[in-house]
Amino acid sequence: MNILVILAVVVVMFGLRFLKPNALAWAAIWWIGVYLVFRYGVDPPMPTSILGMFMFIISLVLVAYVTAANDRIREVADTLIAFFVNPEYKVALGLTLVLLPLLVAFQVYSGMSGQPQAPLLARTIHPPPPGSISYQGKQIDLLTVHNPFRGLEQSDPTVFEAHVAGGRAVYYQNCVYCHGDNMEGDGFFAHGFNPIPANFQDPTTIAMLQESYLFWRIAKGAPGLPSESTPWLSAMPAWETFLSEEEIWEVILFIYDYTEQRPRVSEEVH
Ligand code: HEC
Repeated sequence: MNILVILAVVVVMFGLRFLKPNALAWAAIWWIGVYLVFRYGVDPPMPTSILGMFMFIISLVLVAYVTAANDRIREVADTLIAFFVNPEYKVALGLTLVLLPLLVAFQVYSGMSGQPQAPLLARTIHPPPPGSISYQGKQIDLLTVHNPFRGLEQSDPTVFEAHVAGGRAVYYQNCVYCHGDNMEGDGFFAHGFNPIPANFQDPTTIAMLQESYLFWRIAKGAPGLPSESTPWLSAMPAWETFLSEEEIWEVILFIYDYTEQRPRVSEEVH
């Protein structure tokens, strides 16, 4: 609730009782007053579609009120006719005729150029992975599979670095266009997609996930997402057909290395 807005509108409405404007002005002021209360007086703000529905109903109510008495109808008609024929209002009439189409054009423009609205249905960004997947015909158990190169980080850092370098090549040949130079999900193509490519620098993506999860997502891409987490219009390709198993594990190493994040490890007791 924004008390100041509501109070201001109530004061104006109260003032109308003394000013006694004609029926047309009265209806217009009421319409604007109600709009201001719904648009700026309510917190959290209501969705535009609901606001539109309310304003439609308010418009009907005002029309019903104004047309319910003959003298009010006459007042509105007289005001409108005076506005159109009285030379005194020539300038105002001209301005109205120019501004009205401009206002409509502006509405259409801002409606089309605005940020895309978030879909109404919440999407599960990290749906639970399947227990196992078939990768190029080979069955991979996602619950037990580990990155075969991860152990080298401790045991043989030089060989480990070579695999990270392999992953770097895979990343810059395949992933950079969408996931971006800095892995923030802002590659050249990123702006055309909704959902946008994952931002690996964000602590809610790869830092929360196990390497086996990444393997699944990279291998199966958008087509591999379970249907429960629809609507998914993800552009993430299924890399199974383009990359070898080894290349996928390498690119995973590189993504964690570059972002300085650590994969989540399962808490199981070995
Ligand atoms: C055509 C654009 C595009 C390309 C190229 C692309 N991705 Fe993606 N990727 C996406 C989009 C969009 C998402 C977010 C939606 C989703 O999760 O499917 C995503 C999501 C992901 C995720 C899931 C992250 C999470 O938090 O769940 C991983 C992992 C990933 N991409 C890795 C890669 C790798 C590795 C490559 C290169 C081999 C790659 N992507 C290439 C578009 C792309």
